[in-house]
Amino acid sequence: MSLKKHSGSLELGECTRNPGYRDVDGDGSAAETIGDHPGEKRDSTSVKLDSEAAEEYTQLRPYAGMPKEVLLLYSSQARYRVPREILFWLTVACTLALVALTIAVIALSPRCLSWWQSSPVYQIYPRSFKDSDGDGVGDLKGIQEQLDHFQYLNIKSVWISPFYRSPMKDFGYDVEDFRAIDPLFGTMQDFEDLLAEMHNKGLKLIMDFIPNHTSDRHRWFNLSRLRDPHYEDYYVWTDCNATTPRPNNWVSVFGNSSWTYDEVRGQCYLHQFLKEQPDLNFRNPHVRQEMIDIIHFWLGKGVDGFRMDAVKHILEAAHLRDEPQVDPNKPPELVTSEWDLHHDYTTSQLGLHDLLREWRAEMDIYSREPGRYRFMVTESYDYHEVDKTMMYYSTPLVKESDFPFNFYLLDLPQNTSGLWVQHLVHLWMANMPKGQWANWVVGNHDKPRIASSSGHTYIRVINMLLLTLPGTPTTYYGEEIGMENINVTDSQIQDPRSPMQWSDDMNAGFNNKTNITWLPVHPDYRTVNVEVENSFILLPHSVSSQPPQTVLYL
Ligand code: GLC
Repeated sequence: MSLKKHSGSLELGECTRNPGYRDVDGDGSAAETIGDHPGEKRDSTSVKLDSEAAEEYTQLRPYAGMPKEVLLLYSSQARYRVPREILFWLTVACTLALVALTIAVIALSPRCLSWWQSSPVYQIYPRSFKDSDGDGVGDLKGIQEQLDHFQYLNIKSVWISPFYRSPMKDFGYDVEDFRAIDPLFGTMQDFEDLLAEMHNKGLKLIMDFIPNHTSDRHRWFNLSRLRDPHYEDYYVWTDCNATTPRPNNWVSVFGNSSWTYDEVRGQCYLHQFLKEQPDLNFRNPHVRQEMIDIIHFWLGKGVDGFRMDAVKHILEAAHLRDEPQVDPNKPPELVTSEWDLHHDYTTSQLGLHDLLREWRAEMDIYSREPGRYRFMVTESYDYHEVDKTMMYYSTPLVKESDFPFNFYLLDLPQNTSGLWVQHLVHLWMANMPKGQWANWVVGNHDKPRIASSSGHTYIRVINMLLLTLPGTPTTYYGEEIGMENINVTDSQIQDPRSPMQWSDDMNAGFNNKTNITWLPVHPDYRTVNVEVENSFILLPHSVSSQPPQTVLYL
């Protein structure tokens, strides 16, 4: 390429490399074109401009096709440099602002809620929910028949009370086989069908996990009383006097001594609940492993979570010393109720939280697939020791329960004041560890129904409170329509959980195949039932303006 000085300007060869170049000024200065001879190999080093030439050259206007070396001379001129730098810094500033904005939006937006946070938990008592085969007792197939009820209520999380094989001394909380379904409720196939159908409908199934004890009919207990070497220490045994079997003053939650003499083994075994519910010995590593295997069994089947039963009772002090009496002057033989003792050696023992954390870790193994988080809730009544309840929450470093059940609003008495309720709400919110998730329980199988404890007039307001407080509401079947406890005679008293009132048909629609129901249906079922509630809500405006017989409570 040649670069010639010509008439005060530069002539850059005979032709240009840019075919699009035009001498738009029409001054015939096409000779200003910069280019190489066609086919000439371009060599950047061949362009040598002395400062004088460069100065003159900058008189030219840049154009497409101008070689890089020449363009560089222009690029340092203020009129090109300044806008370029402004544009550059503007781009940098915009990018930074965008990144900052994205971070702020992520940090400030509410956390994505997991399924156990975004839906109420609905507890089903399987005996009383829906009887599909007409034997008078609710069953798993019956639950499956009624799944649309949850979709109607927009409930995603369903906790089903125990349906393990059991002699039913404590309504399923006395488990004979942790891997079998009680025939009263159906078969394992029924369970699997139910779970699959629930998952199809986007529902989650929570099961009871009952680690503290088994039934006295459990195979382990039979082997333990026979002193089978492997099972000998599966339960808490101690020497005692066969005629006065009270190795210490510990009492059962259900009253009287928590020790029973076993003639087969010739020792006493501990039971913190019924004598038919011997306590497992969690100091035995085999017992711990058995319970982990059971967790895997059900998680492997696909259950979505566990309600951990009676967790504070899992461990007892190994020294078996007497517990201090609440009233030290009470004669020891009159110490028969759980309220008579401070449970320093039978509840919340050191090591309890390690067990729960271990179980949580096992559940986490199954929680890794998206949307398959396995939920853990713990049951522990520590009314006067809120700190103890809060201990079940996870910490940022160690995961445990997703939340412990909050029982402060359960069983509110008739004369409850708004201020008292406010105090109870505050008690939880103020003591809950930072970043944790609250929950509220207003009904369960251990307590009377809202209508029966707080009074009929409070059903709606308590349900509304439940649904508006921050956290997961937990409700009990039938509370959504305001069912009441039934009055049962002594011979019928088992657990006053009367059948669900679905309609005003025979047996309230709980069972329309036979006249048997395991407990009588509440006589108010003709007006208090799901069908009435739903039809009232779905009626066209003109019709619904008639005075309703009943109202939807949930
Ligand atoms: C829990 C259950 C209760 C049962 C007890 C023993 O407290 O809610 O019904 O009797 O544990 O398993």
